[in-house]
Amino acid sequence: MKDSYFVTTPIYYVNDKPHIGHAYTTLLADVLARYSRLRARPTHFLTGTDEHGQKVQEAATRANMTPQQQADTTVVRFQDLWKKLSVTHDDFIRTTEPRHTAIVQRILQDLRDRDEIYPADFTGWYCVTCERFYTEKDLLDGRCPETGCKREVRQISEKNYFFRMSKYQDWLIRYIEEHPRFIQPDFRRNETLGFLRKPLNDLCISRPVSRLNWGIPLPFDPQFVTYVWFDALVNYISAIGYGMDAARFEKWWPASCHLIGKDILTTHTVYWPTMLKALNLPMPEMIFAHGWWLSGGDKMSKSVGNVVNPLDIEAKYGVDAFRYFLLAEMSLGQDASFTEEAFIRRCNADLANDLGNMLSRVLKLSQTNSGSRVPTPSPDIRGDCAAHPEEKVIRDSAASLAGRVADSLDAMRPDQSIAAILQLVRDINGYFEKRQPWALAKKADQQPLFDTLYVALDALRIVSGLLDPVLPGKMLSLRQSLGLAAGAPSWPELGRWGLLEPGTSLAASATLFPRIVPPKEEVKTKEPAVTPTPEGTALIDITDFQKVELKTATILTAEKIPDATKLLKLTVDVGGTTRPVIAGIAEHYAPETLPGKRVILVANLKPAVIRGHESHGMLLAASKGKKLSLVTVDGDLPSGANVR
Ligand code: MSP
Repeated sequence: MKDSYFVTTPIYYVNDKPHIGHAYTTLLADVLARYSRLRARPTHFLTGTDEHGQKVQEAATRANMTPQQQADTTVVRFQDLWKKLSVTHDDFIRTTEPRHTAIVQRILQDLRDRDEIYPADFTGWYCVTCERFYTEKDLLDGRCPETGCKREVRQISEKNYFFRMSKYQDWLIRYIEEHPRFIQPDFRRNETLGFLRKPLNDLCISRPVSRLNWGIPLPFDPQFVTYVWFDALVNYISAIGYGMDAARFEKWWPASCHLIGKDILTTHTVYWPTMLKALNLPMPEMIFAHGWWLSGGDKMSKSVGNVVNPLDIEAKYGVDAFRYFLLAEMSLGQDASFTEEAFIRRCNADLANDLGNMLSRVLKLSQTNSGSRVPTPSPDIRGDCAAHPEEKVIRDSAASLAGRVADSLDAMRPDQSIAAILQLVRDINGYFEKRQPWALAKKADQQPLFDTLYVALDALRIVSGLLDPVLPGKMLSLRQSLGLAAGAPSWPELGRWGLLEPGTSLAASATLFPRIVPPKEEVKTKEPAVTPTPEGTALIDITDFQKVELKTATILTAEKIPDATKLLKLTVDVGGTTRPVIAGIAEHYAPETLPGKRVILVANLKPAVIRGHESHGMLLAASKGKKLSLVTVDGDLPSGANVR
């Protein structure tokens, strides 16, 4: 294995806007690249767009644009999405850039000069969607044989240029058999070997301009443009300086991992290796084909209208939750199903409950018992915990976690890495339940309490670093709450226990992941916000009432929430700090009548996400029948005053 890491995504067609499938491959590559950088390997992450070919030309015609305009408009949608999803690619290649077209032409000329490419007359079956020719025997029931396509094909006869792919067939079979990691997962390797059991044809690498003119002209025959797949695959080497910058090329090639979807297996595991072989270049270390995201249980399709738009999910639930769900949910290689319910369930269970609650519990206990500082533990607690068996279990698991995460990543199982980290979080929660630090806090000897808090805090330090590639924004906040130095976590420190310095300042509280309120529960959750307690409910103790923190607040802004007839989105001032509050008062107040009103806020309600909007608190209102009035404050008491 090289000591540098070069990971690529497929380059995406610019015929349509990006969907969740594109977002997934790119996020997967991003997470692998971020882990690689965290492990201090020199890393290069390449993505980009595939801008030539029939699909793009047809989309341009439909949109009444030139193909270049079509590409220029659509590429921005991919680039903007990657920015929104915190994608850290090192390079973005467009196949219409001169740095790419020049190299494709140079390769074509080189192969033609060495008779690896030759002209011939040809009759074949052509699939417009896959932009590929098939022979009669390739077809399945007379249709395109590609997994996930199976569309009608057209018979076409014409002169074309061919790459002598067939002569590499025996070599390729042997190479695949001798390099078990070359095509992954194993069942995809077998799929390619199955394909190679039939005689391999030479590859048609040209299209006559009379039929398609949106492509790279063949340097030796201007009547033809390059077949889009021959053009596109070259991006993996043109982007890193093949034929232009030998030192740069040597640094990154061969690629460590080409990530692809299962739909483009043959092009990557048959065409590409034979092209590289003809160029006398080494093979990529691994080509990994992941499964598809289904919408519920169905294939996503525009005509069915079930395509998941990554921008909608990001806008509603935030980038980190989206990254987390996609990475944790898909077992690499298999198909996975996207539903909003599964998304909410997983984010609430893993992030809001397990991780978020753990952090707020330990910060709260530290605030009350150690002045929001990392407490000083017993001497062995920062070492091997020899005298503390229960602590030792957490310590050993935390100290070995980085190694286990690395092993799962090397086996291309990022979902298992995430599962192992979350297991540690659950183990810390379990440890807390056993040790009962809230009970320990009442004892005269504070040392057991301090030991417990230290164990939880140091384990969270390791968790925050190891989850950083998946949840970069939230883990930065977590590290800040733990008083850790700014900047990226260091890999060696994540494999060592006891590094959190006693005395370090901690945040007083943190809400990393507000619980997402599922749409069905919304009504139930919002009702109490505007409904007075009915008479005759059970009596409560004064201590029950004291748990509720009521404050005066001034409404600053109010706006409607599209598609939510009962809800208004407010910002309120609570004496110097502002908060968002979602209130179920839209049927009773026009938004423009609200700014300036001084109201009463339940200030210590757990934050929630309602219809994709965060809500930090609840306004008091009185209602009878269909009438409802906000409870307001008489006189000129300022915002932020306590209400008793
Ligand atoms: N342009 C070619 C790739 C050339 S690479 C040298 C292409 N582009 S594409 O825009 O159609 O997108 C390809 C990739 O998007 C697929 O390989 C796959 O990675 C991803 N996906 C498309 N639909 C998908 C799902 N429903 N689920 C997961 N990923 C899928 O093919």
